[in-house]
Amino acid sequence: MSTGSERRRTTTRTLQEMKRRGEPIVALTAYDYLFARLVDEAGVDVVLVGDSLGQVVLGHDSTLAVTLDDMVHHARAVRRGVEHALLVVDMPFLSFHVAPDETVRNAGRLIAETGAEAVKLEGGSERTCEHVDRLVSAGIPVMGHVGLTPQSVHALGGYRVQGRDEEAAERIRQETRRLADAGCFAIVLELLPAGLAEEITAASPVPTIGIGAGVGCDGQVLVLYDMLGLNDAFQPRFLRRFADLAGETRRGLADYVGAVRSRDYPGPEHSHE
Ligand code: KIV
Repeated sequence: MSTGSERRRTTTRTLQEMKRRGEPIVALTAYDYLFARLVDEAGVDVVLVGDSLGQVVLGHDSTLAVTLDDMVHHARAVRRGVEHALLVVDMPFLSFHVAPDETVRNAGRLIAETGAEAVKLEGGSERTCEHVDRLVSAGIPVMGHVGLTPQSVHALGGYRVQGRDEEAAERIRQETRRLADAGCFAIVLELLPAGLAEEITAASPVPTIGIGAGVGCDGQVLVLYDMLGLNDAFQPRFLRRFADLAGETRRGLADYVGAVRSRDYPGPEHSHE
């Protein structure tokens, strides 16, 4: 990554080179234009329009209700704010998996209608990797995602650390290898024991980007509103809060309500002649 006016656009190759140089990859989610602009200005390498928008923007209790239209709508806004980072958009629940042609059409819509550079999809089964292979053949870069895959929350029995026993760990190792073989340019590792994520990262020819996966991944991704402390009800062990936007927002809102009620605002200085 480089900062300042000479900063170039991040590409999938940039991420590959960062892995080779041992340079940490910084990724964050964004869902709207203004935050996307701030995230991009901060020098983040990858901006992900995650389907976590289902919870943090749309108020659902999981990602399962998010539609392709929701993703297109938000990704178009984010695109207007991102100049330098690589823009990746999540494929929502059942927008892939059903039939390879359908997967290509849906991913193609995300790329063509939003201007994003890549898509992300969850899972690493043989079936999923056939879809990845079709997308890559169609010229669409794909980011993989293994470990805790929130679209499978019911099958996984909740949001919990994955790969704790040897059988589950081996399945995740295989999924990661398969995704890389199918042509993924990077793979998100979510909620894995640190040792397993480190081992997978060392063996992986493509960069790994961790969330709740310890210190040994090639990069890190977080949900923007979680790390800014806006979603203050959410406090998993892996999260560091880098700001207290919920506290600051409550304070500002209480000041505004008080100022209007007491006729302190607006004042003469806010009035036009
Ligand atoms: O939807 C999302 O925000 C994600 C990240 C947490 C990796 O998939």
